[in-house]
Amino acid sequence: MTLLPVPTTAIIVVAAGSGTRLGAAAPKAFVRIDEHSMLRHALDGVFAANPMQVVIVAPAEYEGDAETALLEAAGERSGLGRVVVGGATRQQSVAAGLSALSDDITTVLVHDAARALTPPVQIDTVAAAVSTDAGVIPALPVIDTIKQVDAGDIVAVVDRSVLVAAQTPQGFPRALLDRAYAAALASGVEYTDDAALFAAAGHAVRHVTGSARAFKITTPADLERARQILAGPTASAPVVPRIGVGTDVHAFGGVGTLWLAGIEWPGEPALSGHSDGDAVAHAIVDALLGAAGLGDIGEHFGTSHPEYAGAHGEVFLMRTAELLAEAGFTIGNVSVQFQGNRPRFSARRAEAEAVLSAALGGAPVAISATTTDGLGFTGRGEGIAANAIALVHPIR
Ligand code: CTP
Ligand code: MG
Repeated sequence: MTLLPVPTTAIIVVAAGSGTRLGAAAPKAFVRIDEHSMLRHALDGVFAANPMQVVIVAPAEYEGDAETALLEAAGERSGLGRVVVGGATRQQSVAAGLSALSDDITTVLVHDAARALTPPVQIDTVAAAVSTDAGVIPALPVIDTIKQVDAGDIVAVVDRSVLVAAQTPQGFPRALLDRAYAAALASGVEYTDDAALFAAAGHAVRHVTGSARAFKITTPADLERARQILAGPTASAPVVPRIGVGTDVHAFGGVGTLWLAGIEWPGEPALSGHSDGDAVAHAIVDALLGAAGLGDIGEHFGTSHPEYAGAHGEVFLMRTAELLAEAGFTIGNVSVQFQGNRPRFSARRAEAEAVLSAALGGAPVAISATTTDGLGFTGRGEGIAANAIALVHPIR
């Protein structure tokens, strides 16, 4: 076990609040942001800063959970930490933390567990800036225009250039903070933060620059913001769908009956091809593979894949859907049009769409058909052409 020098700085992490405004089932500091609680994240920041004594102030009956978070975050510094039970107000909780400090402590930082993502450098900056006669708070300029109100009326604009928004940890010389807390206890006044209590005892408080990440998690929207930050930039970036295009042409002249759009057409002349010549299904395969950036039909189903000789379009589509799923895509929808004089399509449109859609795991497939006014190879009845577009979605 490593012997650590006895620190003269301590940080009191207050975590005893109930979190009324967050409205979760557990006390706020024990609500998870990701797989870890707010308290655990706050302690990760504390233990990444310079070594200091750590006093966690927990709600009654949560001492065990606080101990666990402490042991997990502290690593080999766990000997520097301890857990005490807090009080009914934040001020009482801080007082409980103060009374648990060891005698060697000369500088005390008070930190909200609810500012769970506070950067370690902010903790070190505050600790270093505390002097024997003045306290230090991290603060950020006020961005919003601030108004003074009286019931429904705006009565004054407040000059925001002289305002800052206070954060934690707030640092103080221990001897003066102890006395200021004793005075507050005697007076029964509840102050909004430790700096206000310290200033009320007649001491100076200075400020250093805080950080946006040190925001306090108060409401469900704040918790969501913390989750987004931890999930990283990709999580908040929109997932952009991708489209692909596919074309296929087959000549009449195959053996047997026609297979087109996944269904058999008895009495119609067959298309020729390595497989069943289903130009509609093949155009869809190329559109899907193209949208996902997975090459084309020749690569996955061509003559180098004899297992697909004579296979029906449905088989190609099922395998294509698998390839997309393996590559991390879901299929949005497919639209396909074929050009040809026959078969007469409209009576069997719904049937064909259902077969192709089922082969794609249920993604909608729309099929339209047109003739070309007697022009070109389709107009002369030599074969069929099909064009498809597909939309796919990357799975995050
Ligand atoms: N705190 C505390 N003891 C209390 C009240 C608050 O230790 N009796 C702590 C909270 O756990 C939090 C910090 O003080 O880390 C800041 O308080 P706040 O954000 O107001 O938390 P809650 O009081 O828990 O929330 P709410 O006011 O919405 O009930
Ligand atoms: Mg509160």
